[in-house]
Amino acid sequence: MGDSSGPAMLGYDRLLQFPAVGILFGPVGLDAAATQTQPVSKLALWVVALNLGIFSWFKAEYGMVGLLLGLTPLLLVAQKCLGYDRRTLSGANPMIFSAFVDTIWGTTTVALFLIGVLSDWDPRLYAFSTIPFVGVLIVFVTLTHQSSRSFRSLDVEETVGPLSARVTVVLAIIIGTQTYAFGFPKSGIWSILTLGVTKAWTWYFMARTAQHSSWRTAGAAGIFSMVATIDPSIHSSDTQAFLHLVGSLIVLAQTIHIIPSHPKAKSALWFFSLVPIVPFVSNMLDIRTAQSLLIHSKNHPIEALVRNANANFETLLKNQSTTYTAAHHEYVRRYGIQPPPGFEAWFQYAKAHASPTIDDFNILYSAISPLWRLSGQEVMDAMGRAYNAPHSELWLCEFSGTTAQTSCRHPYRTRDRSIQLFFNTALGDLQGVFPDINIKFLVNHLDEPRVIVPPNSDSSTRVSGQFTLTNLSKQPVWDVLTRFCSTQINQAVQQHEGQEIKAEQPSTLPFITNHSTALDLCQHPDYKTMHGLLLSPTSLRLFEGLVPILSTGSLSTMGDILYPSPAYTEPEFTYSKDHDVDWDKKRNNLYWAGSTTGGYAVNEQWARFHRQRFVTLAQNLDKRRQHSYLTEDEDGGVSLARSSFLNSRLFDVAFTKVAQCEKWYCRAQRQYFRLKPRAHKDAALGSRLVFDTDGNGISGRFYKLLASNSAVLKQALLREWHDDRLVPWVHFVPVSQGMEELPELVSYLTSTENGQRVARKVGEQGREWFASALRDVDRNVYIYRLLLELARLQDSTRSALL
Ligand SMILES: *[C@@H]1O[C@H](CO)[C@@H](O)[C@H](O)[C@H]1NC(C)=O
Repeated sequence: MGDSSGPAMLGYDRLLQFPAVGILFGPVGLDAAATQTQPVSKLALWVVALNLGIFSWFKAEYGMVGLLLGLTPLLLVAQKCLGYDRRTLSGANPMIFSAFVDTIWGTTTVALFLIGVLSDWDPRLYAFSTIPFVGVLIVFVTLTHQSSRSFRSLDVEETVGPLSARVTVVLAIIIGTQTYAFGFPKSGIWSILTLGVTKAWTWYFMARTAQHSSWRTAGAAGIFSMVATIDPSIHSSDTQAFLHLVGSLIVLAQTIHIIPSHPKAKSALWFFSLVPIVPFVSNMLDIRTAQSLLIHSKNHPIEALVRNANANFETLLKNQSTTYTAAHHEYVRRYGIQPPPGFEAWFQYAKAHASPTIDDFNILYSAISPLWRLSGQEVMDAMGRAYNAPHSELWLCEFSGTTAQTSCRHPYRTRDRSIQLFFNTALGDLQGVFPDINIKFLVNHLDEPRVIVPPNSDSSTRVSGQFTLTNLSKQPVWDVLTRFCSTQINQAVQQHEGQEIKAEQPSTLPFITNHSTALDLCQHPDYKTMHGLLLSPTSLRLFEGLVPILSTGSLSTMGDILYPSPAYTEPEFTYSKDHDVDWDKKRNNLYWAGSTTGGYAVNEQWARFHRQRFVTLAQNLDKRRQHSYLTEDEDGGVSLARSSFLNSRLFDVAFTKVAQCEKWYCRAQRQYFRLKPRAHKDAALGSRLVFDTDGNGISGRFYKLLASNSAVLKQALLREWHDDRLVPWVHFVPVSQGMEELPELVSYLTSTENGQRVARKVGEQGREWFASALRDVDRNVYIYRLLLELARLQDSTRSALL
């Protein structure tokens, strides 16, 4: 092949892979001095092939940039050490910019600038990227060294045959190993072939570029193609996007400057500045357009939701009983049964500690009452058998009324996730309150809820408290967990009668108006494929039957007795004022970082797990997805506008760890998401809006976020003990499982004056309410009342209620 074939190949190449613009620099150097050829050693060819293989593999696997941005200064060092200087060849035109091309400090500065703008500092990732980095450095230096005496002696035309044969061998070995480890690649054969051919051309032209100028040119062009084609819309700030553009242009300038060519040909290369400029400008325009559509008036449906919720909350506060007689009366009115023995002492305790909630313990009652179908003795028997069932994963705790101490034991575990400590702290005040009686209870060790209670009509399970225990780990559980839905709907309607919070249906976006309806699996068949716990729970071991088990969270169809998670008291999850920031100093965006827990990925369904769906949305990874926004018409009406645009400036969201997956699906997730380095535990507090969603079980960081100045956007399918006292749109902003409303919600709360006011107010109300309704003593009040109910439940003189 002669030089004349260059332009033809150029066209073909552009057709294949436009982003690999680095290769287009190849032919520019063609007018440089003709090459002198020299045979290349076989060893050198193998070294080059091997390192090309390693580099390609890393790039494909991790898509990493990292240290590669530092290639230019290192190639310069290499060249200087090997004893020649490019300038003697190119006759470079002296200009100030030369410092950034020809000096080590100048090129290092540029490299550090790029690293600062484009990469999050993650030591693991950098340690990893040394491998491909060293690989590509060896490729360049080997070839340069070959030719150190007679510069530019590697003749690509001549070595392309033997070299590509070796590269093919290396790649075949890599692909073989990969197939062995992960199974056959899932992408189609055509895309693999196209990509392969494109990459081959890229390397070929890189080599030609190097041949006609220097490897530094190839390196710089490679970096330009890498940097300039990073999507500017992923940046979380305007500044970062702008610096990214500046960085791309500097690298282009470097590349152009290194190339030994006529000034005229060089200026033509500035054409490539469009590669970073066009996406940058287009992204800025998109952001402008989205901002122009925002609703600035009070006609936004969120305003009405907030108004209604605040009014409802006021009513709730006002309606709590203030005397024992009233509390007693209210208990009987709600549940049609006398309160448990000791209720008066409990009331005095709650009142003495200024508990803002006296009557609203429905979540507790609804879990306890189905168990009355067993007698006190049957309850005790069922607990004993459940504890002893193989792999029950239950702690059996015993509270001594005399000492007010609780001791817990497990068939084989010793570390109890702070359970015993938690109960000792919570019940420490109760010495002598339950004279001479011991109360036993089972506490779930796992994150996932445990119990499904068959309806009353199902007589087979009632008989002396029979139950089954099934390992449902890593399999879809929707059908099991919703099989009693038809009967439960009726019960739920009865229970919530008279308390249903009414809110006007605001628009076609699914803003949550009623929290308990939103959690109800029976009313939402679509949840079947929307949550990790329903699709592939990590360690669900389900009891089906009447067994009292304390869990920290449970689904609407489940019968676990809820108690405050001991995790909330652990240092990692407690709020510290020192790490919080004033509202005005917080970044005006939505923050979330975490790992891929929530479900165990054993197949492609991971994409439907709740956390994965959220990050996919917030990182706008599904480019075909249409988002819904609200706009205001001339006459003040609100209507929907659809757009595939999502303003990434408003989202600082990423996975920091891929976990709970089989290797193929770990790899798939690593490649799909833009991972970030592990964040500081209080990093969220730097943002005005903080997202919170379920993990395998409840999210332990919720209270920290609630206690802070930030506003919490809470998405949950799991119920918690506090659901009776936290009010959506007052203390937190609820987010639906489908999240169709999230783009509009975040735009409104960050980018309009009214929305910012709402966000700030929710942040403040959440913080204040946390300080008066979710104090340690509030949890004690709850646990105390729970203990009363448990004592009555297991009272051996109580007979079954039918
Ligand atoms: C439960 O099932 C999962 C998945 O089939 C399995 O990995 C695990 O070992 C089982 N656990 C027990 C205790 O049998």
